[in-house]
Amino acid sequence: MDQVAEVREKIDIVSLIQEFVPLKKTGSNFKANCPFHNEKSPSFVVSPERQIWHCFGCQKGGDAFTFVMEYEHIEFPEALRMLAQRAGVQLAQYKFDTGVASKKEQIYKLNHLASEFYHFLLTQHPVGKHALIYLIEERKIKPQTINTYMLGFAPKIGNTLTQYLVDKKKYPKESLLEAGLATQYYGRIADFFRGRLMFPLYDHRGNTIGFSGRVLDPKVEPKYINTSETLAYHKGSVFFGLNSAKEAIKKENRAIIMEGEFDVISSFQEGITNCVAIKGTALTEEQVTLINRFAQKISLCFDEDSAGQEAVKRSLPILEKKGLSVTVIVPPDGKDADEAIKHNPIAFKLAVKHDMPIYDFLFEKTLARINPKTIDGKKKIAEHLLPVIADIQNEIVKEHYLQKLSRELSTSRESLVAEIEKLKKKEVIRREDIVEKKPQSREALLEEYLAALLVQHENPKVILSEVETMLSHYEFKTPAYQKIIEKLRIFSTNNPKFDPKQFFTSLPPELVPAFDVSFLYPIPKFKDEGHYKEEVKKKASDLYKMYLTHKIENLGKEIMEKEKDGMSDQENTLRLEQDRLIGLLPKI
Ligand code: GTP
Ligand code: MN
Repeated sequence: MDQVAEVREKIDIVSLIQEFVPLKKTGSNFKANCPFHNEKSPSFVVSPERQIWHCFGCQKGGDAFTFVMEYEHIEFPEALRMLAQRAGVQLAQYKFDTGVASKKEQIYKLNHLASEFYHFLLTQHPVGKHALIYLIEERKIKPQTINTYMLGFAPKIGNTLTQYLVDKKKYPKESLLEAGLATQYYGRIADFFRGRLMFPLYDHRGNTIGFSGRVLDPKVEPKYINTSETLAYHKGSVFFGLNSAKEAIKKENRAIIMEGEFDVISSFQEGITNCVAIKGTALTEEQVTLINRFAQKISLCFDEDSAGQEAVKRSLPILEKKGLSVTVIVPPDGKDADEAIKHNPIAFKLAVKHDMPIYDFLFEKTLARINPKTIDGKKKIAEHLLPVIADIQNEIVKEHYLQKLSRELSTSRESLVAEIEKLKKKEVIRREDIVEKKPQSREALLEEYLAALLVQHENPKVILSEVETMLSHYEFKTPAYQKIIEKLRIFSTNNPKFDPKQFFTSLPPELVPAFDVSFLYPIPKFKDEGHYKEEVKKKASDLYKMYLTHKIENLGKEIMEKEKDGMSDQENTLRLEQDRLIGLLPKI
């Protein structure tokens, strides 16, 4: 465990996070738009002093380890290894033999072994001969490319891989099941992939997370199967090919998103190396977040058929929300990228070069399909394009397309804007049904702010004395703040010079998260000490007032009950208590 501390010590959280998220200095902290949720103004704060981060929008936070774990979707041992390497700390044998993390590691390892096995069968073994011939002759894949992507072959015979991993490598059957490499079959275990060309799937760090397998026999359905959900593989959270493409994507600041494995592989072979595939599924928000780390510009290169075009339209809102610049590449001659490249590589490369802004593309497609001269046509075109235009985040771009649509339909810009307004109203109703964040009560928010004011003051003793009486009666909704403030009072009484670091180390671990929040909570700049004090007094008194009012109201209800039951003795005691509380109400 000392090694964990050693790594933490050597990592500077600001320069670590800076590599993933552009940070801006504000006061003694750094701020950014949170990488873990969508937002337009920054509520993600990093403290160099405390070496922690916290997002006031989505409430996530922690240290360097938790940041890497969140950001890379990895477990602690992997985060430790990553940061140890960065810090130049040699990890002594660190055992990962418990829990989820080690399971995931084991799946990577098994998958890796399986990929080597499949690759061997394809490239060296007679059993893979026909698959190799298919790849090289029919699909025009070069041996070098086969190696780059570690393509393989899974034989038709039911348990080749299982035998290899269980009998020879001595892995337990359960591990194969957990990795999705084998299935149960009437109590017996059999290979999951049979008679298929194998494409290993890697995450962007190169872990082998699963496979997709394509049939060789065209009569067999389905054409492709993927590893089922495992601890290591979640559909919709990765791309095929990202691991091989990420450097090129970073360098060009552009990623080309394609449909299938062969589209990516053929492009790579032709020197277009910044391509990834979504494997025939819809682009997910998780994938967009992932790709956005490598590039600001996305080009969608889907089939020209209607399914492909539908996919373009469906992908747009997620991409637009992240503020990515999006273009469309149309593979020439109505083919998919793979076929187009084989048919005419130069024409395909030209298409890549002449990608068109996604909105121009949608305009073109819609106007080619529907006649803009008829009334019905105008209405239909507007129905297609207005929602798209309404969602454009950049006002200048939005205006451009509004004017364009108004020209195409020979209608006024005002009528289009009016229609957009109607759309927005519908949208609001839909959004209201979805509660995004659990709302905090006014008290909870005020407590958070007050605690921040107290914790961040350079002389808590003085500031606390201002509100001592009110706070001593008040009961916090968030007990952690009550405890922190109590500790702060004792600490600052015993230590004339207040040092937040020293105070922090004296806190029990269960209070640390709440302290971190208070310590980073953005508080306004006060003109002078007087204004600071006023704010603290005002907030404490607001809270206290709310607290008392609530109690007084409850007593009122109780008094009414007693009145009904004719219990005047108790009624009187309650009234006296009520009067006492009313007397306590602060007079501000
Ligand atoms: P090839 O014939 O190998 O070139 O496939 P393709 O890419 O031309 O296939 P298609 O355009 O039909 O599908 C696009 C992508 O969707 C494929 O590359 C696969 O990744 C995926 N896909 C295709 N068929 C299936 C299927 O039956 N099941 C699943 N899960 N995925 C499929
Ligand atoms: Mn194809």
